[in-house]
Amino acid sequence: MKRREIETMGAEKDTHHRIEQLIKEMTLIEKIGQMSQFAGGNGLNHHLMEHVRDGKVGSILNQVGVDVLNEMQRIAVEESRLGIPIIFGRDVIHGFQTVFPIPLGQAASWNPEVPRKGARISAIEAARDGIHWTFAPMVDVTRDPRWGRIAESLGEDPFLAGQLGAAMVRGFQGDDLSDIKSIAACAKHFAGYGYSEAGKDYAYVNISDNEMRNIVLPPFKACVDAGVATFMTAFSDLNGIPATAHENLLKDILKGEWNYDGFVVSDWDSVIQLITHGFSENPKAAAKASVNAGLDMEMASHTFLQHLDTLVSEGSVLEENLNDSVRRILKVKFDLGLFERPYTDQKLFPQNGNEDHLAVAKEAAIESLVLLKNDYETLPLKPERIQNLAIIGPLADDGFEQMGTWTFDGKESFSQTPLQAIKEAMGPDVNIHVARGLHTTRDNSQDLFKEAMEAAKKSDTIIFFMGEESILSGEAHCRADINLPGAQNKLLEKISKLGKSTILVAMAGRPLILDHTRDLVNSLLYAWHPGSMGGPAIVDVLLGKSVPSGKLPVSFPKSVGQIPIYYNQRNSGKPGTHESFTHINDIPPRAPQTSVGNTSFHLDDGFEPLYPFGFGLSYTHFEYHNLRLSTHNMQANETLDVSIDVFNAGSLDGQEVAQLYIRDLFASVTRPVKELKAFEKVFIQSGETKTLNFKLTVADLSFVGKDNKTIWEPGVFQLWVGGDSNAWVNEKFELMTDKTENNEK
Ligand code: GLC
Repeated sequence: MKRREIETMGAEKDTHHRIEQLIKEMTLIEKIGQMSQFAGGNGLNHHLMEHVRDGKVGSILNQVGVDVLNEMQRIAVEESRLGIPIIFGRDVIHGFQTVFPIPLGQAASWNPEVPRKGARISAIEAARDGIHWTFAPMVDVTRDPRWGRIAESLGEDPFLAGQLGAAMVRGFQGDDLSDIKSIAACAKHFAGYGYSEAGKDYAYVNISDNEMRNIVLPPFKACVDAGVATFMTAFSDLNGIPATAHENLLKDILKGEWNYDGFVVSDWDSVIQLITHGFSENPKAAAKASVNAGLDMEMASHTFLQHLDTLVSEGSVLEENLNDSVRRILKVKFDLGLFERPYTDQKLFPQNGNEDHLAVAKEAAIESLVLLKNDYETLPLKPERIQNLAIIGPLADDGFEQMGTWTFDGKESFSQTPLQAIKEAMGPDVNIHVARGLHTTRDNSQDLFKEAMEAAKKSDTIIFFMGEESILSGEAHCRADINLPGAQNKLLEKISKLGKSTILVAMAGRPLILDHTRDLVNSLLYAWHPGSMGGPAIVDVLLGKSVPSGKLPVSFPKSVGQIPIYYNQRNSGKPGTHESFTHINDIPPRAPQTSVGNTSFHLDDGFEPLYPFGFGLSYTHFEYHNLRLSTHNMQANETLDVSIDVFNAGSLDGQEVAQLYIRDLFASVTRPVKELKAFEKVFIQSGETKTLNFKLTVADLSFVGKDNKTIWEPGVFQLWVGGDSNAWVNEKFELMTDKTENNEK
């Protein structure tokens, strides 16, 4: 049946009917074809096009160029038996050609509008190029900055990651998935990938049910609730069962409990890797295990095409399983409008990298910047007080590096660097002395130090642009030592001895170890990898045209030895306290065993991070007063109204992220010492007070208990509101016993 007949098939355009009709028409090989995703390449691959004509290709990833994609689509639609369109996929993680801050940086905005708008523009630019589907958002919760993919994550907290991941889904998919400027999103990597052992990519993952249900899964559920069209399985071996063949994850939880109707694609070769895991004996077994576990589409490897027909004929895999997968895949293709409009017409799109797109990228970068230190109010800079300004570091003028990881299509020519922006912003009276200081961020030589020292000696103010090149984070780019790489600290040590006014702007794809580094400078601004418009954004903040408002989406450890360190930890029976902590340097000689505090801390680094989750300074400062609860005895069917007054006590207007945390003081399973349950970013003028209102319901107080059911339990809760996870303004309230005694939410 040719495609045109599909269009006229049946009076109603009912997608379900059209899908069922198609499935009736499809051969077994054509069904398996829809479940197979091939890797594209450069230009038109004629061998691949033969597979397309044979109906063996449901999707192609990493093929770019609208003319090639349109030609591939034409072959699928006009030259295959059923004319089913291909869905073209691509990693559009934080931008297509206009690049936004890395997702971890976008998370530092604590503003869902930032990732939503970024994803919206990314979708428009990718769709213009013929892409229908992005493999984002990545909502893997992680607490391990050694792991290179923390750069793509939305941080350590399930609530923040869920809110921002859902915003990205809405951005990519728009209000209508069939709109030409919408693309299908993909929640990944399902699940547990962020717990890779030792922060080493692809390593074993050992997570309890309790941790999975209460920390790892909620952001994925938030994406389901936001209507995410697809999921991707993780590479990980999850508690002995690789996620790609994990029936409990894919069938019981995702498609069962969550009633998910989208489709699940494997990660690259993660089906054939079931053999490497030592889980499947051969490709045929790998195909069987993954399909029977609920996987719908195989990425890059082709065990489905090689073995599923035999597996079906021998009864090891039910054809109804394949029909279900094909239904899911075809539904996304219909929802995308690919049957009605299989080709891309670039005339219907704005130019990539236009000023509107770049303006949104700049605003995102501004909101992602986190001010970690600002002694003596070194920032904002006052150009009128600067005669000579030194700009030192390998990242001051590198439009490629500032884009960060996963920027296959990022256009460096769209990038505006910090040096370019500084030259533009500083008047003719300021002499700017530029020195690279190191060849690359990894450079251990000191042969460029002399030039840097000379620039510093001539200057009264010094801005360092240091950190990590983009290649040092992202997939498979993990580091065991996450200090500033190379000789960067050595250069800072030398120049700090000059006693000048020094600012470090750090660009990196992860939290770095800054315990020593921060002592070498007066001010420290964390820029992550800020994307195309990182330069103007950073300079606007350095000059005070914008007031920094970013807050950390992940804790910064004092040392690698502290990892994992995160705010929402369990209390243990003997938590570290300031009273009980004894520093290694304070222990007297021949100290007897019990003379040093017997609680949970490291003798050298204590029990607190260098910078806590939710932390970020401003050029003004905010005070929290008058925390009020609508009741201190909350019934399960009531809403708890929480109000707080936030006062801008400083001399500048600014934005603050007020964060609301709770603690369930005792429960049938231990609960974290703090849990983020709400946040609001608000602009407050200097001297002004704003009252913020939050609402909590019993759902916010629920958790997954011993039998993997979501429950709530009566008892006392503590509630804090403040500007970071060390918030101290707090109240207690009691969740009362429910008369009906039925405590399942
Ligand atoms: C990679 C990544 C995944 C990505 C996929 C396609 O290996 O793990 O996040 O979407 O392959 O490029």
